[in-house]
Amino acid sequence: MTAAFKDKYGPWALVAGGADGIGSAYASYIAERGLDLVIVDREREKLQQRCRALEADHGVTCLAVHADLANRAILDIVIDAVAGREVGLLVYNAALADVGPFYKPDSGLDYELDKAQVNMLSPLALLYHFARPMLARERGGIVLMSSGSGLQGSPYYSHYAATKAYSIILAESLWYEFKPYHVDVLACIAGMTLSPGVAAAVERGEGQHSVYQTPEEVVSEAMAALGKEPSHICGMHNRDNQALLHSLPREQAVSAIAKHAIANFLEGKAPAQFIAGDET
Ligand SMILES: NC(=O)c1ccc[n+]([C@@H]2O[C@H](COP(=O)([O-])OP(=O)(O)OC[C@H]3O[C@@H](n4cnc5c(N)ncnc54)[C@H](OP(=O)(O)O)[C@@H]3O)[C@@H](O)[C@H]2O)c1
Repeated sequence: MTAAFKDKYGPWALVAGGADGIGSAYASYIAERGLDLVIVDREREKLQQRCRALEADHGVTCLAVHADLANRAILDIVIDAVAGREVGLLVYNAALADVGPFYKPDSGLDYELDKAQVNMLSPLALLYHFARPMLARERGGIVLMSSGSGLQGSPYYSHYAATKAYSIILAESLWYEFKPYHVDVLACIAGMTLSPGVAAAVERGEGQHSVYQTPEEVVSEAMAALGKEPSHICGMHNRDNQALLHSLPREQAVSAIAKHAIANFLEGKAPAQFIAGDET
């Protein structure tokens, strides 16, 4: 199993946003199977510590690439750092996420453009670069992290949810296109997961009506689905919820997501749009 995984997806895996949470669980899963790792993340100290721990625990090599995935030049930065190493598995995990009104009091269009970069354009650029040699070698894998919010309109997550729909459609489509080349593509559709940011919100008393998975549970489901399904909704409760939402008229499904966001993360009140500020 381990040897087969390494043969199929090695010798190097690249995890974008791999120093913490779900990304860190991907890195552990991959290192346990003997692949060397390139981890891209934005906090130098945390990244270095994570890489050194993976090397000590699993006897692999971990290349730490300190970079912001919102940087428009991210592909050049990553190509320079990877320096020709053969990447057989690409996991794009990082995302810019938030909950609140579309027009926010404390951010403007630049923030939304960063979100488009981190959640759509950077994964597109990395995938475009690293998938081509995988197709030529006729082996490899790509996982794009997505979210159940991308499966229907998701008020108060609006732009984030739209970026997550992008990942689902891109991954599912390429699952089919790359299959003849033996390159596996998966959209991992996570529900509420106790990564550090979410765990901190739960500590503060938010999100009390949600059911949570651990990062390790999400990763183990995703990796079991890679090579089998075009997309995978993690967690039985999330699959059941999604089936229910799918059975509803669209306006009811969208409204149900809004109610969940309001009850769990918006203090029980639909937030107003902040339209008094600057136009950008
Ligand atoms: N957690 C959930 O409930 C949940 C639910 C559905 C889907 N997802 C999806 O799962 C993925 C992981 O989300 P998560 O919140 O759980 O994160 P995570 O896996 O806990 O952490 C992601 C890592 O990426 C880093 N990162 C974030 N933005 C970056 C950037 N611009 N440049 C470089 N590194 C960056 C983070 O650094 P910092 O610590 O500095 O931010 C962190 O180390 C996302 O694609 C998200 O859409 C999560």
